Amino acid sequence: MKTVSTSSRVPVALGDRSYEIVVQSGVLSQIGNVLQGAGCSGRVGIVTNPVVNQLYGRMVHRALRQAGFSPFFIIVPDGEQAKTVKWLSKILDALVTQRVERQDCLLALGGGVTGDVAGFAASTYLRGIPFVQVPTTLVAQVDSSVGGKTGVNHPHGKNLIGAFYQPQIVIVDPHVLATLPSRQWIAGLAEVIKYGMITDKPFFEYLEQHVEGLRNQSDEVLLHVLRRCCELKAEVVAGDERESGRRRILNYGHTIGHALESWGHYKKWIHGEAVGLGMVQEASIAENLGICSSAVVERQNDLIKRVGLPSGMPKKIKFLELWQAMQHDKKVVKGDIHCVLPTCIGEVAVVPLVRESIRKWFSVQQRSSSKLMNLVSKPLSSSRLVRKK
Ligand SMILES: NC(=O)c1ccc[n+]([C@@H]2O[C@H](COP(=O)([O-])OP(=O)(O)OC[C@H]3O[C@@H](n4cnc5c(N)ncnc54)[C@H](O)[C@@H]3O)[C@@H](O)[C@H]2O)c1
Ligand SMILES: [Zn+2]
Repeated sequence: MKTVSTSSRVPVALGDRSYEIVVQSGVLSQIGNVLQGAGCSGRVGIVTNPVVNQLYGRMVHRALRQAGFSPFFIIVPDGEQAKTVKWLSKILDALVTQRVERQDCLLALGGGVTGDVAGFAASTYLRGIPFVQVPTTLVAQVDSSVGGKTGVNHPHGKNLIGAFYQPQIVIVDPHVLATLPSRQWIAGLAEVIKYGMITDKPFFEYLEQHVEGLRNQSDEVLLHVLRRCCELKAEVVAGDERESGRRRILNYGHTIGHALESWGHYKKWIHGEAVGLGMVQEASIAENLGICSSAVVERQNDLIKRVGLPSGMPKKIKFLELWQAMQHDKKVVKGDIHCVLPTCIGEVAVVPLVRESIRKWFSVQQRSSSKLMNLVSKPLSSSRLVRKK
């Protein structure tokens, strides 16, 4: 029988901001020792929400105390409402009240929401104190906890206020995913499939072969998936910390995904579901452009459906609504939308698209008819494409 290692450390190489991602089953109960090993000491502000606190707060608090830390809780609300300037300010108030000093640290225990707001607070308090990510959702474990993007929302847009601020260590315990609602689990699988599509064909094939294990969260499949996604994210981030080049490939599925989230007022779909829908639509654009075969598109869409993600574009959406929602995307450059499109499994290109091309694609899409030509704003030259390696 094959033995599976239940622990691994993935390095994120960023010079003097380098750190490790610890992926280990059951590591939460030993978190104090792991933090000591990472050079943390003193007071630890645990930022968490009532749901996660109820499940794991006590265990983390106890493990920190046993290792000689002085932990205290900072509770933020459940859901996106915690990612606001108001709650950032409340976290800072707590740090001031507790007289937290430069050598102390802030720990985010929760999903992407908690990690984003806590990380931003850590980056600004005393011009930056050590920050620890303990992600508890699939989205947070494979994506948001690694790479240093932190921030809060503005009433006019998501993630408009923030900073790049790398954690001291990321601690991933697969066991905590057992309590995740199944909708959240499945949504996270969209980001997992994304890694296969953008950069790793063998990983995509692994996912195709292990749909059953993904659906029932088999330990072995889960560990492999978490490790591989963390390795891939670490590798992409290490090469382009501030997203001026290759890191943009991580936005595959997000141009249309973010637009759909905004169109649905962040209620119709949760983030990963919208990303899955975005990948289906962006692959369809790539096919219409002639840069991706229908076989590749079908293969991707098949996997998206098999894991249980939604895949149909809402019938009610109008072109103008979609276009306007896409304008808020941070990847809009001088009016063109720079969209990450697949060229084959494991490879993508960044392609500038103008309004007219998207409108044409949209009407074809709505009529479910065949190919569209001339979608690209300008002729594609290799210098405008960002390709793997
Ligand atoms: N910083 C980045 O690079 C980055 C990347 C991707 C997404 N994000 C951000 O992350 C956020 C989405 O994160 P998310 O999907 O983790 O959502 P989330 O943080 O809202 O968590 C989803 C839900 O799961 C609950 N939960 C968390 N862990 C649980 C557990 N172990 N058991 C049971 N319930 C649990 C939470 O209380 C919440 O209700 C968005 O704000 C998005 O913008 C940031
Ligand atoms: Zn995402």
